[in-house]
Amino acid sequence: MEKDHNLTPFYTKLKAYADSGAICHDVPGHKLGQIDNDMMDYTGKQIFKLDANAPRGMDNLNRPQGVILEATELMADAFGAEKSYFLTGGTTMGILSMIMSTCRAKEKIILPRNVHKSAINALILSGAVPIFVKPYIDQELGIANHMDYEEVKKAIIENPDAMGVLVINPTYFGVTSDLERIVTLAHEYDMKVLVDEAHGSHFPFSNKLPIGAMEAGADLASCSLHKTVGSLTQSSILIAQGPRVDHMRLRSTINMIQSTSPSSLLLASLDIARKSIYQKGPKQLPELIDMAKKTREQINQIPGLKALGKAYFLSRNAFNYDETKIIIKVSELGLTGFDVYKELSDTYKIQVELAETHLVLAVLSIGTTQKDLDVLVEALTKISETYIGMHLEPIAPKIKYSYPEAYTRPREAYHAPKKYMPIAQAVDEIAAESIMIYPPGIPIVIPGEIISQDILDDLEFYQRSGSVILSDTESGYIKIIDKEYWMKWSEDEDE
Ligand SMILES: Cc1ncc(COP(=O)(O)O)c(C=O)c1O
Repeated sequence: MEKDHNLTPFYTKLKAYADSGAICHDVPGHKLGQIDNDMMDYTGKQIFKLDANAPRGMDNLNRPQGVILEATELMADAFGAEKSYFLTGGTTMGILSMIMSTCRAKEKIILPRNVHKSAINALILSGAVPIFVKPYIDQELGIANHMDYEEVKKAIIENPDAMGVLVINPTYFGVTSDLERIVTLAHEYDMKVLVDEAHGSHFPFSNKLPIGAMEAGADLASCSLHKTVGSLTQSSILIAQGPRVDHMRLRSTINMIQSTSPSSLLLASLDIARKSIYQKGPKQLPELIDMAKKTREQINQIPGLKALGKAYFLSRNAFNYDETKIIIKVSELGLTGFDVYKELSDTYKIQVELAETHLVLAVLSIGTTQKDLDVLVEALTKISETYIGMHLEPIAPKIKYSYPEAYTRPREAYHAPKKYMPIAQAVDEIAAESIMIYPPGIPIVIPGEIISQDILDDLEFYQRSGSVILSDTESGYIKIIDKEYWMKWSEDEDE
C-alpha cells in the first residue's frame, strides 16, 4: 500500500502530548519547561515542551511498536529501504552499528583509508581487521576522495573472506565511487556493502543527484539527515534491505550504543525532515543544483579563485559528483583555505563548512537562498580584490601522499600497554591512538600503524597550514605501544 508522506506519526503524537497538560512526575527535570532558564528566554517554552522523555504512548526507540515504528516505516519508504532505524547519535552511531554488526573480532572489512573516525573506532570496538583501499588523491586540491573501482575489485579478489565493503557515498567533497558496480561484485563474493551516506541523505530525492545507497543495491547505509536534509543536529538514520542483513544483530548493536533516553526533539525532527524532503526535494533540489551551477560560474569569474564542478571531478575518474556542494580553490591567491575560512567568518559573517589547505567548501541544502549565495560571491570578490594585487606566492601543492603501514589491528593496539613520546621522536614506533585533521575528521594515523617520517612531515604540513589536529594526547606528544611490555599481550588471547 502506498504510504502517506503527509503523516508525521511521531511528531503529531509528541505535539499532542505537549499540549495535553500532563502533570510530569517523570524525567526530564525541566518538567516540559517549568524551570526558567537563559535559553528559554531565547527559545520560549515550546522547545522544552517537546522534549519529553518516554511518556506512555510515545513508543520506545529500543523496540518500536507504535508511533516510532510508523515513523521509521515512512522513513524506509522514502529512502527505498525495507527498514529504517532512527539514531540520535549521528551517522557516527550508524557507522559503529553497521561495522560492529557485520564483523566479529579478526574478521576482515574492506574500506577506504580516508574513512571518518567513527569507522576507525568501529574497528577498535569490533576487533575487525581493516583492508584499506587507497583513495584517489587529488593533487591539485590536496585532498583524498573517492575509491577507484579497480582498487576495490583488487581488494575484494585478494580478500574473498572479507565480511563487507564500506563505501563513502559521497565523500565530504561530494564525490562518489561506482557504488552499483561495487555492490554487484561484493555480493558475488557474499560480502555486505555498508554505505557511509553521511553527506548524501538527499540523494534519493532527485535524479539529478548521484545514486543513493538503497537504489544502488547496498545492504546498509547510514545517512545524516541533519547534514543535508534539515533535521536537528545529531539525528541520523540507518537504512537496510536484503537478505544479508541480520536485523536481530543489528538491532541489538544499535541498542548497545543508543542512549536509553533518546531525544524526542531529534526523533520528531527526523519525522518532519522526511516529510519535507519527500515533498519538496524533487522540485527544489534541481533548482538548488541550478543555483549552485550559476554560483560556480560567477566564482570562476573572480581573479585567483576557481569553483570546481562536475566536469572537473569526472575528468579525475570520479564516478559522479553531488552538485549541491561548492568547492572553491583559493590557494592560487596565495591564501590557504584556512585563511579564507577565517576571513569569511570574521569579516563577512559567512560560515562555510570546512577549510583545507587549498580550498573552502560550502554545503548547500534546499534551505539555501539565492541571497545567501550572492553574499558569498560578493565576499569572495572582495577577498580577491584585497589580495590579488599583493601577488602572494600560490600555496605549493603537497608532494607526497603516503599512508602508514599497519603493524597490528586497531583493537590490539588500543588495548596494548602504552607510553607517551614527543611526536618528533616517534618514527618507527607503533601508534596507539588516532591523529586526525579536523574537519573532516579523517585520521592521518590510526592505532596499530607504524609512524613514518612521511607521517610526521604530513603532520607538520597540516600544522603549518593552520589545520586543527586532534588526538587524545597533549599537543606535541603521541601515545604509542610500549613494545617492551607488549610481549605478554598475545594476539591469540585478545578478541
Ligand atoms: C564522511 C563522514 N562520515 C560520517 C560522519 C559522521 O556523521 P555524524 O556527524 O552524523 O555523526 C561524518 C561527519 O562529518 C563524515 O564527514
